[in-house]
Amino acid sequence: MKDAGYEVAVFGGDGTGPEVVREGLKVLAALGENGPAPWHPTEYPGGGQYYLKAGKEWEPAAEEAAHRADAILLGAVGWPGATLPNGDIAGRALVLGLREGLDLYANVRPCRLYPGVTHRISGEYRTVWDPKNVDMVIVRENTEDLYTPARGRLTRGGETEVAVDTRLITRKGAERVIRYAFELARARARGAPEDGVRRVTCVDKANVLEGCRFFRETFDRVGQEYSEIPRDYAYVDAFTQWLVRNPEHYNVVVAPNMMGDIITDLAAVLQGGMGFASGGNIGSAHGMFEPVHGSAPKYAGKNQVNPFATFFAVEQMLRWLGDRHADRRLTGQADRLESAVARTLARGAAKTYDQGGSVSTSAAGDLVAAAVRGEAR
Ligand code: IPM
Ligand code: MN
Repeated sequence: MKDAGYEVAVFGGDGTGPEVVREGLKVLAALGENGPAPWHPTEYPGGGQYYLKAGKEWEPAAEEAAHRADAILLGAVGWPGATLPNGDIAGRALVLGLREGLDLYANVRPCRLYPGVTHRISGEYRTVWDPKNVDMVIVRENTEDLYTPARGRLTRGGETEVAVDTRLITRKGAERVIRYAFELARARARGAPEDGVRRVTCVDKANVLEGCRFFRETFDRVGQEYSEIPRDYAYVDAFTQWLVRNPEHYNVVVAPNMMGDIITDLAAVLQGGMGFASGGNIGSAHGMFEPVHGSAPKYAGKNQVNPFATFFAVEQMLRWLGDRHADRRLTGQADRLESAVARTLARGAAKTYDQGGSVSTSAAGDLVAAAVRGEAR
């Protein structure tokens, strides 16, 4: 426990990133009222829009703060036309750069449907899945696989002939993220909605890919240390249909990086859309928390997008800090935020455009901040 409190480095980033982060900070401030708040957020500019203006993705002081802080809260990066000389998106340093640089090896993405949240399917707002059937956590490997910058082009006489991305699956990378998933299954209060079983599902393409065979072997080897936790397997193609058809079967899911990226966007549909999906990028010494959605340039400046993913990111951040520092103040505040969010959603009071409503980003923040104040400390 840190008596002086925790330093949080905050990056709004691009587009709607700063808008949702502003609401996240509003809710964090409401949690910290009535007493000295055990956290100190500091905002730093950075991202693609900053790059267009300043010629660099961020300032050295911002990068230092990210490396020094107890936790990082990130909005979103990416802006049309903001590209680095090598073709990468400007703002990459804040997302992929920090995942690599701080060794944030597990991307932990809860997928839970809260009562009162609807899905937009075929243009209509309805509840397709039963909230009691959607409650899993997808743990995505976050530092290797096709994301390793082992790629390039063969250009001869000015013409590109071949482009190649190398897929690396390492013993270290697979082992630690798989261990994270089993530890999470052990710690989670609930098992799968279907039967309460605390299963861990390994999603891969081990019927074809060597890296996936190695990932699955590692899953079996590490899993033997967790004999009380049933191991479950799914090829990624089949998984996409089972996820939609029987989400109640899943408790903790672990997957290599690229497949994890794809299945978590699909899973977001089950939890009401990208507006509700948050992720924690977690390493052994650092944690960065973010809404999974992007910077949504076409909505930028309109005060229209859904800030709930950022509220969940703040909740994940508080819970992670509380667990890591054995600090009940923070786990208590994470519980308080979750219950304020759940009550607000259940009342159907904060429906933004993606939920078929017209509540603005800032009004949704006001509603959750008010719910936080009404929640027992
Ligand atoms: C995500 C995003 C990132 C990724 C992009 C912005 C680089 O899609 O966090 O899922 O591919 O990991
Ligand atoms: Mn993604």
